[in-house]
Amino acid sequence: MTRKVPKKIYLTEDQMPRQWYNMRADLKEQHAPYLHPGTLQPIKTEELFPIFCEELAKQEMNNTDRFIDIPEEVQNFYKIFRPSPVIRAYELEKLLDTPAKIYYKFEGNNTSGSHKLNSAAAQVYYAKQQGLTGLTTETGAGQWGTALAMACAYYGLDLTVFMVRVSSEQKPYRKAVMETFGAKVIPSPSNTTEVGRAILAEFPETGGSLGCAISEAIELATHSSGYRYVLGSVLNQVLLHQSIIGLEAKQQMEMIDEYPDIVIGCAGGGSNLGGLMAAFLADKLAGKANPYFIAVEPASCPSFTRGRYAYDFCDTGKVTPLSKMYTLGSGFMPSPNHAGGLRYHGMSPLLSKLYHDGLLDKAVAVEQSKVFDAATLFARVETILPAPESAHAIRTAIDEALRCKETGEAKTILFGLTGTGNYDMQAYMDYKAGRMNDYIPTDEELAAGFATLPKIPGIQ
Ligand SMILES: Cc1ncc(COP(=O)(O)O)c(C=O)c1O
Repeated sequence: MTRKVPKKIYLTEDQMPRQWYNMRADLKEQHAPYLHPGTLQPIKTEELFPIFCEELAKQEMNNTDRFIDIPEEVQNFYKIFRPSPVIRAYELEKLLDTPAKIYYKFEGNNTSGSHKLNSAAAQVYYAKQQGLTGLTTETGAGQWGTALAMACAYYGLDLTVFMVRVSSEQKPYRKAVMETFGAKVIPSPSNTTEVGRAILAEFPETGGSLGCAISEAIELATHSSGYRYVLGSVLNQVLLHQSIIGLEAKQQMEMIDEYPDIVIGCAGGGSNLGGLMAAFLADKLAGKANPYFIAVEPASCPSFTRGRYAYDFCDTGKVTPLSKMYTLGSGFMPSPNHAGGLRYHGMSPLLSKLYHDGLLDKAVAVEQSKVFDAATLFARVETILPAPESAHAIRTAIDEALRCKETGEAKTILFGLTGTGNYDMQAYMDYKAGRMNDYIPTDEELAAGFATLPKIPGIQ
């Protein structure tokens, strides 16, 4: 039997997008403005300059330009690891015996092992252009820190990474890779910053969280001349850079006369899902198509499905601008789930707005052991070892495909395979040994997190 659609759908370098797509320019309503943490007034672009690079601060606030040119130097960097393939999951379809057609956009084909390099390449470029000498950041799973270490090595900037302590213990090789690329890696919370010392004094046994690590990274950046802080998710600028995923995927689907009925992405801070869905959302907003978007999060850290839509700090130390987002409260400490990149109390304010308005159709929370059931099944037939974060999307893609089997519908499913799990073997070993903990926070634990939401006179 001849296959009409090849296993892998590739673009050539010449077909790669030369602009990012800024979905905010097409939205009728913008997300609520960021508030200054001191004055509680809407923040101005210039007020972001002490923390972020100027060009990135401008991108953060830009809701008018539909397309933003990808600088030629960034395009050249992208060509080292892009375009990435869209892959037809024939083997998985066969195993599930489903009429659904399953495709995935595979972003794991670079040393960082994830989509994070798409934004790291851009952010470090703008820092270099501004004449900065160094950057600080946080990392959970380690993919973002590795991506940034690679980009800093490429452009010649210094980098200090605050790595969530439990991840640094679970994944010592990740730390070694970052160090190989020249980064300094500090397990967080640490006693190298004031905020780290305060968190340790209150929670001496804590395994850390992305929120803590962000606070430490910001403190170091604002106390070091020539340094700025960069963030690998949540922000509009990051979703903008990640739009390359969806722009490429849409072209690739068009090349084979396909269009997704369902688009699925895991959601930690929302960057891969925002990037994958962006180009398809443009069609939805224009009334040309009606793809169904699904966000998948861990049941242990359920920001969308059990969080509040409220203003909150993006970090535990409460130094970042306040953003209105689905959040569990910046004081919420998620249990040590193996998908470190999804252990974040909040969510992109842009995706939060889309979810609130029904443009992001659905969010689901899944338990860790079911995620690893899916990861293992997928690895065996498709031969890619997925990152635990990415496996959340696989779980839901499988569930949707099985639903198609029941109804007999031949839906086209596209999911984001954001990365590989080669450094996550402790998690796979725990799964295999039956040691996986499916902890789901109680309502009381969530209430304790919500109690840390800021009080803003006249707003909440
Ligand atoms: C492989 C992988 N996928 C997904 C995520 C989640 O991040 P985001 O929601 O920003 O895409 C991470 C974050 O570290 C990651 O490493």
